[in-house]
Amino acid sequence: MLDQEIIDETAKFFRQTLEKEGSGHDWQHIKRVWNNSILLNKEEKADNFIVEIAALLHDIADWKLHEEKAGSAKAEIWLKELGVDGERIGHVCDIIETISFKGKDAIKPMKTIEGKIVQDADRLDALGAIGIARCFVYSGYKGKPIYDPSITLDSKNYIENSRSNQGTAINHFYEKLLLLKDLMNTQTGKKIAEERHAFMEEYLKQFFKEWNAA
Ligand code: ADP
Ligand code: NI
Repeated sequence: MLDQEIIDETAKFFRQTLEKEGSGHDWQHIKRVWNNSILLNKEEKADNFIVEIAALLHDIADWKLHEEKAGSAKAEIWLKELGVDGERIGHVCDIIETISFKGKDAIKPMKTIEGKIVQDADRLDALGAIGIARCFVYSGYKGKPIYDPSITLDSKNYIENSRSNQGTAINHFYEKLLLLKDLMNTQTGKKIAEERHAFMEEYLKQFFKEWNAA
């Protein structure tokens, strides 16, 4: 199979299976990450196939909702079926295992430029107006409240808060979203992240203004 056919086949499969996903890892998220990866790669000029296929497969089985290595295992089966060679499969699986943010004390550097690009594209989708929307969708999916003034805003317990219905949507800004700008890998990613970060700060300012006036 040609590389382009593998990409098309993968996109088609995920478009069908993730159309109605309800936790914010739906097809439209995958599509935005795919598009932004292509955009970032215009500047970086890394291996196109790895970038596109890793973007399409990056959320195949998210760690918060599945077993730790379920994502890379599923991706391996999928790519083997399409006849991709072992070296490229290994590269994509490594990206999938490293991509996720698992709290500020567990930052694992992405090894390759292809991985850095897809990680930036995925992080961009957690920022700005879309990031805010996804945070509230995920919180609703897990049954978390919007905000609870009796809980101190901090970055602790991220893993527990993400898997369970502990914590609040607003706390998620402090445990993850506001930290991402300084973790971006590429220059273009950093620039886009700055703008989205500023928008989230503005949003929080308005949120607390309204909350405290009520
Ligand atoms: P991504 O798909 O961008 O890697 P995640 O899988 O970590 O992001 O999470 C999917 C979406 O749900 C993201 O926009 C993220 O910010 C949000 N999210 C993740 N964990 C939490 C949480 N504990 N509370 C609220 N929202 C969360
Ligand atoms: Ni994602």
